[in-house]
Amino acid sequence: MQDLTHNRRLSIAPMLDWSDRHMRYLWRLISKDVLLYSEMVVTHALMHAEPKRFLQYKQDEHPIALQLGGSDPQMLATCARMAEDWGYDEVNLNCGCPSDRVQSGRFGACLMAEPNVVAECVSAMRAAVKIPITVKTRIGIDHNDSWEFFETFIRTVESAGCNTFTIHARKAWLQGLSPKENREKPPLQYDVAYRLKKERPHLNISLNGGVKTLQDVNSILQNLDGVMVGREAYENPWFLADADPLVFGRPRTCPSDEKELLEAYIPYLEEQMAEGVPLHIMTKHLLGLFSGKPGARKFRQIMGEGACRPGVGVQLVRDAMAAIR
Ligand SMILES: Cc1cc2nc3c(=O)[nH]c(=O)nc-3n(C[C@H](O)[C@H](O)[C@H](O)COP(=O)(O)O)c2cc1C
Repeated sequence: MQDLTHNRRLSIAPMLDWSDRHMRYLWRLISKDVLLYSEMVVTHALMHAEPKRFLQYKQDEHPIALQLGGSDPQMLATCARMAEDWGYDEVNLNCGCPSDRVQSGRFGACLMAEPNVVAECVSAMRAAVKIPITVKTRIGIDHNDSWEFFETFIRTVESAGCNTFTIHARKAWLQGLSPKENREKPPLQYDVAYRLKKERPHLNISLNGGVKTLQDVNSILQNLDGVMVGREAYENPWFLADADPLVFGRPRTCPSDEKELLEAYIPYLEEQMAEGVPLHIMTKHLLGLFSGKPGARKFRQIMGEGACRPGVGVQLVRDAMAAIR
């Protein structure tokens, strides 16, 4: 079992529809050490579908964590075992997602109100696997936003053996805000994560929310164990380019620029297309790659318009790349 402490210094957030295996493969071409999270996989769905649909990934993606959504300890334990069997390096339980769909399934952020249930889930998963079980959470929900509420949640979950938490450092409103608004409107409160680390220094604490530069990552790492980045990593994947030398202290092996990165990604596109994956499923992730560069709009236009055409091949990507000056 791999010790992920080093990799946790910087991780890429679980993001539905965004952090799929194709995007993760692209991130891995940029950084060797960053810890990659899957999209949230709901236990009911995983147990009733062909596991390959949710669990398939390429070995190059390691280290990789599977995020689960659920609140039934036995189902979570079964799914954690599946994750371990498929070679995942960690299983993370989602206690931060505020969407209505998730609340009706009684998981995600609403679980912050039921720390004992989360503790039972963690215990059951820990008993089922050897890989680490971790929790991603908000700092509060609705009017339950006191330090005492948050600390009780952490303490209770910790008592079940979880010692690694990712803190999305804003609370969630369970009613009245969309998931998108819940990632923007409640103010970020990094001080809550810092206080947690100070009072419970034996825990591994990663901070999540609003981080956009590697300089910010490194300054947060002065006080915490890790930083998780979501939207910036998706919208501007090149932000990771210097992560290996600057955050992980290892030589940079990533391509020298975005064009070279895309060239390195093309064999993957070809391989996946040969296995039946439509090009546009993968190229939708590439649209932000050249943002801010001359020709970026043309690049997006060529890719956006062409990727769904019948019979399209990777030449489209080369044609779009030619628009970048
Ligand atoms: C499109 C999208 C999908 C998301 N899906 C999930 C998810 O499946 N599980 C989860 O825990 N958080 C999810 N999140 C929240 C992110 O993991 C992260 O907590 C949030 O975006 C704040 O980090 P950031 O400011 O670096 O983006 C999602 C965010 C976005 C933008």
